[in-house]
Amino acid sequence: MFTFSYPITRDYPFRWFKWVALVGAILLTALVSILNFANNGYTMDILYTTELNENVSRRLWTQKMIRTDDKTFPTCNSQNLPVNTQYYTNKLGLAYNIANFWQVLPNGKNLTLPSLKYSNNLIENCTIPLIQLDFTSFDRSAAQLGWRGWGIGAMGFVTCLVNNGQQTYVNLTTNDLIPPTIDTGAAFQFLQAPDSQDLTSLWWGESLLSDLTSLESFSPTEWHYVSTPCGKSPICCLNPANNPHNIGALHAQKVKPDVWIESDSFAKVFYSTIMADLGQVYTPNIVSNGALLTAFSKNITVMNNTVESNWLKAGPARVPYISNADDDKKLAITPSYIYAQYLSSRRALCCYYF
Ligand SMILES: *[C@@H]1O[C@H](CO)[C@@H](O)[C@H](O)[C@H]1NC(C)=O
Ligand SMILES: *[C@@H]1O[C@H](CO)[C@@H](O)[C@H](O)[C@H]1NC(C)=O
Ligand SMILES: *[C@@H]1O[C@H](CO)[C@@H](O)[C@H](O)[C@H]1NC(C)=O
Ligand SMILES: *[C@@H]1O[C@H](CO)[C@@H](O)[C@H](O)[C@H]1NC(C)=O
Ligand SMILES: *[C@@H]1O[C@H](CO)[C@@H](O)[C@H](O)[C@H]1NC(C)=O
Ligand SMILES: *[C@@H]1O[C@H](CO)[C@@H](O)[C@H](O)[C@H]1NC(C)=O
Repeated sequence: MFTFSYPITRDYPFRWFKWVALVGAILLTALVSILNFANNGYTMDILYTTELNENVSRRLWTQKMIRTDDKTFPTCNSQNLPVNTQYYTNKLGLAYNIANFWQVLPNGKNLTLPSLKYSNNLIENCTIPLIQLDFTSFDRSAAQLGWRGWGIGAMGFVTCLVNNGQQTYVNLTTNDLIPPTIDTGAAFQFLQAPDSQDLTSLWWGESLLSDLTSLESFSPTEWHYVSTPCGKSPICCLNPANNPHNIGALHAQKVKPDVWIESDSFAKVFYSTIMADLGQVYTPNIVSNGALLTAFSKNITVMNNTVESNWLKAGPARVPYISNADDDKKLAITPSYIYAQYLSSRRALCCYYF
């Protein structure tokens, strides 16, 4: 009789499977743990930094694989710069007082802002509509009076664009030729002395400003010009000996004190220094143009006889600039931004930051 049989059990052909499953499960658990640890196994460390760099909202590669909450990424808070406070640019030259901010709205109206949301946005399109020089005597500090009977206070009015995503303008003022703290020993003080190699144009700006404080015209004077009616010559309000009443005629007659040329030179140098400090390159500039700088720095060697005394140091330049192709390149002006510190977070694992 024909029988048909077959075994109802048979050897499982994949003997290695349970080991693979076991080891695989362990490896998978380990991998997930590692990814998870890489994603979240750190603390957020808080620091103040002047550098807003690529670390801001930078995802780790593991965070790109497994999307996690955006709140766990490092960020830098933007700064809120209020009106009426003083700032420097990253070149740490002149001090700027912020007079106001306004934003140009799409409908053409301007919205005045109480403060500016700022994160190292470049300063652009600056204009200086006015440079005001005040010849003053007794209303200066004792240290200034000790240096000279008369001095000039200089004030630059600047309007700049800060492109922080919106079209925001800022009005700045900057001043003072001879600081009230002149007894600290410098004829013109920037927050930090510009480096002669990195910030060459600003270094010359500081030198020329201190040179121009040597105007002989800062001897006691009886002249006082107060107002400039629109489109007309300045009115002379105090003018002995029936001299002419306009600046051009006074200058032509060489009537003392003949401060017009010096004031003009000073204003041009001040203008150039402000523009260099603000990183503006599209206007003619004495401190970034070799030929102009050569002409304007001619008198720098006599500075030690006129500005300097035993306790007052002028400069830093001691010899005139001589234009040449190599040095002229170094006078180039680099962009500027307002110098501020930002509260930032970064990932920290023990003592390692990433
Ligand atoms: C940015 O990341 C680099 C390493 O990628 C680190 O050295 C640096 O300290 C970080 N900067 C900040 C402000 O955390
Ligand atoms: C708004 O601000 C811009 C830029 O400073 C200026 O040119 C314009 O005249 C202002 N508009 C008004 C209506 O004040
Ligand atoms: C800023 O200046 C640049 C170059 O001069 C010009 O192209 C741009 O239109 C100006 N921006 C504004 C908002 O005036
Ligand atoms: C900004 O300054 C300019 C010139 O100094 C002035 O004409 C303008 O009115 C100022 N803008 C505001 C909003 O105060
Ligand atoms: C240099 O000094 C001379 C003599 O004091 C003066 O006439 C001339 O204007 C000065 N030049 C500059 C650029 O200040
Ligand atoms: C000024 O400098 C010149 C040249 O370096 C030097 O001959 C002169 O003595 C100096 N004058 C003073 C007051 O230091």
